[in-house]
Amino acid sequence: MKAVEISSFGGPRVLRICERPRPEPTAGEVLVRVSTAGVARADTLQRQGKYPPPQGASDIPGLDVAGCVESIGPGVQNIQPGQRVCAILAGGGYAEYCVAPQQQVLPIPENWTEIEAATLPENIFTAFDNLITRAGLKSGESALIHGGTSGVGSMAIMLAKAWNARVIATAGSQEKCRACRDFGSDAAINYREGDFVEAARAFTSGHGVDVVLDLVGGAYLARNLDALALEGCISIIATQGGRTAELDIGRLMMKRARIMGSTMRARTPSQKGEVAARLLKQVWPLLPSKTVIRPAIDRVYPLQEAWRAHERMESGEHIGKIVLTIDR
Ligand SMILES: NC(=O)c1ccc[n+]([C@@H]2O[C@H](COP(=O)([O-])OP(=O)(O)OC[C@H]3O[C@@H](n4cnc5c(N)ncnc54)[C@H](OP(=O)(O)O)[C@@H]3O)[C@@H](O)[C@H]2O)c1
Repeated sequence: MKAVEISSFGGPRVLRICERPRPEPTAGEVLVRVSTAGVARADTLQRQGKYPPPQGASDIPGLDVAGCVESIGPGVQNIQPGQRVCAILAGGGYAEYCVAPQQQVLPIPENWTEIEAATLPENIFTAFDNLITRAGLKSGESALIHGGTSGVGSMAIMLAKAWNARVIATAGSQEKCRACRDFGSDAAINYREGDFVEAARAFTSGHGVDVVLDLVGGAYLARNLDALALEGCISIIATQGGRTAELDIGRLMMKRARIMGSTMRARTPSQKGEVAARLLKQVWPLLPSKTVIRPAIDRVYPLQEAWRAHERMESGEHIGKIVLTIDR
């Protein structure tokens, strides 16, 4: 089968089309005939040699796909060949076929195309688990979402609005701030020009936000705590601004705050399956109408131009998810 491999660590041009054996589904696995694959920040880090795939995962990049079930391995239940599905993967998405543990496979929502469905798995698993399940954002509460135009950030804004929360997002330009509002954010601040702590306090009339979804890490930790309400939660999903920070623990205690972090890729199939089961029950029914949670697509490239997709992501100009199509 045709796939894209990382021929050596380096810039986008190290991504090369190659021929690989078609994977075979083993017990509990589903073979997906891939139509579209999502491009994630993690793929660019893997290409640079900074984010190796977990043990046992494919070395082919790609953490989410949409397509149709080609065949199923022994013991797979409730999934049939021919079914339209999307899946979150530990790797292997930039290819004509990939295998996924059955727990990580979800139906493509009604009224969503394969290109649209490729925007879902990695973004919705990450945003839902960190913002709703772990941080516990509730109706009527407020959230500060950093990187509001990223794949994960745009999904987090839409999910928070679906949960009837109030949202303030950060982004690096006025154009991106407008896009955050288009995704449903009630307010947006250009962090290059304004202070997000002041903006979050003003947005909540001095109360502070109940949840922060953060992808900056070290450089933002103290300021995230400043922006937080009493009993609030900072949920960290990336360290783009450094892995270490100094923190006034007294302030953390006085706010009775929680700070938590997690990664999705390293979780076992059954742990991802728990997230998938909650998504299916709580979020999938909201998707067919495309009213609050909609596809957020930046650009679409053919698989053989995966390098251009990575160039686009590393330019930082994208808004929403970049998608690859596999044309046969
Ligand atoms: N923990 C997990 O399980 C998990 C899972 C998926 C993704 N992630 C992480 O989540 C992040 C988003 O992933 P993605 O695939 O959606 O990537 P992406 O679309 O490339 O998003 C990266 C975003 O970071 C923003 N950013 C960088 N510095 C910022 C700052 N100082 N303040 C606010 N925003 C800043 C950029 O926005 P501007 O251009 O506006 O600066 C951009 O929107 C990545 O860091 C990724 O590694 C984590």
